Amino acid sequence: MKIVKGFRDILPYDTGNSDTSFAWTTTTDQLRQIMKTYNFQEIITPVIEHDSVFKTGIGEDTDIVSKEMYEFVLERDSSTVSKEKILKYCLRPEGTAPIIRSVIENSLSKIKSLNKLFYLGPMFRYERSQKGRYRMFHQIGAELIGSDEILYEVEILNLAKEILTSLNIDNYTFQINSIGNNESLKNISKAVSNFGRKNKDSIEEKDYKILNKNPLRFLDKAVHNYNFKDIPKTIDYLDKKSLKRFNDLTKILDSFNFKYSINNQLVRGIDYYNDLVFEVTSSNLGAQDALLAGGRYDSLMGKFGADESKSIGFAAGIERLILAMKSKNQASNSIDFFIVYQQEEMIEESLRLALRLREVGLSIEVDLLRRSFTKQIKSADKSLAENIIIIGKDNFNNGTIVVKNMASGIEEIVSLKNNIDFFLKKTKGTPNEKK
Ligand code: HAM
Repeated sequence: MKIVKGFRDILPYDTGNSDTSFAWTTTTDQLRQIMKTYNFQEIITPVIEHDSVFKTGIGEDTDIVSKEMYEFVLERDSSTVSKEKILKYCLRPEGTAPIIRSVIENSLSKIKSLNKLFYLGPMFRYERSQKGRYRMFHQIGAELIGSDEILYEVEILNLAKEILTSLNIDNYTFQINSIGNNESLKNISKAVSNFGRKNKDSIEEKDYKILNKNPLRFLDKAVHNYNFKDIPKTIDYLDKKSLKRFNDLTKILDSFNFKYSINNQLVRGIDYYNDLVFEVTSSNLGAQDALLAGGRYDSLMGKFGADESKSIGFAAGIERLILAMKSKNQASNSIDFFIVYQQEEMIEESLRLALRLREVGLSIEVDLLRRSFTKQIKSADKSLAENIIIIGKDNFNNGTIVVKNMASGIEEIVSLKNNIDFFLKKTKGTPNEKK
């Protein structure tokens, strides 16, 4: 049996080709904590949605919808339901459209006029798999729904930056751009269409079709797949309002000493954006160098038939964050105490002590394979135990055991009547503090 291509296991040990579960949970705990510092609240939506959520939400002409979605129908439905009524499902390729679906369906904007939501979970895209690009990957995303205040754009950008700083990631660049409001987008589309027509001979037929249907999608392709010199720059087609917004934003970012670079050809591969778009790339990654990306999407709610609500957000790929991290939280699956017995007849006493210490939250291993003392010591070494407890018959009958600290090598004879505090103090803190 083999794992599905582009999917990955997260293993307890470092085998060199996966993240460890320790790195994974430490990182995701940290990410949740950062969201809390900005008062974003978690929303958990299903991994399966109706495919219309994305067809309407992110656009039929996007690569994600036209090439990368895992779509399916239920075999049962195909034999029992008429063709028009068969429901089409898909594994979600991204988080924003489902969050907006849920906000509308659950009337969250009536409960709060400003919703600050975050999500963390798996996404699915049928892409060519390579380092940093998987068919099942995980995103942490933040969506701020209900305001077009520029200072919230600054908040969102700072939150994105805080994620990188807290995870000790450097060598990254914030690229920002404005694609403008609806008026500006019309101007840009016109300019791109003219540009495309002029260069028709150098454009592949399938891309020329996209140019006619959705000039902005073509612009994204032109930037990435062609070597044109004079591709239109969005900034030249912004109307006054959008240009002012963008200039105001950059002024505030400067005053906050927030470092960014303006990339006037950044348009993003999704249809819902307007005005601010941004992407963070890192030289610590290979070809798949985007750590996170996002932007403003004021008309997405309207596309779903609800009242419009101004919104902005971003999502980061967790696998890529872990790839780019300097210290990977790989270090320790350490345990507090490994109990070893010198004689097999002490095995039940060892187990009894293990149970007592686990009750107070200490992590304890005891080898129950009835192996020799030397073999148990070897296991204890491998297990990264901070201390070992040696239970020997003679000591035990005198009411004592030996506790050895593995880092210092110091051994102490400890009375078994000793209160639990002794064992708690031997570890680096109380169990609760450690977590
Ligand atoms: P996106 O640019 O498609 O945007 O994805 C965001 C991030 O997810 C990327 O920067 C990358 O780190 C990660 N990512 C995407 N595809 C893969 C993959 N195949 N393997 C590994 N990581 C991947 C969105 O998804 C938007 N929903 C972002 C957003 C939120 N805009 C507004 N709010």
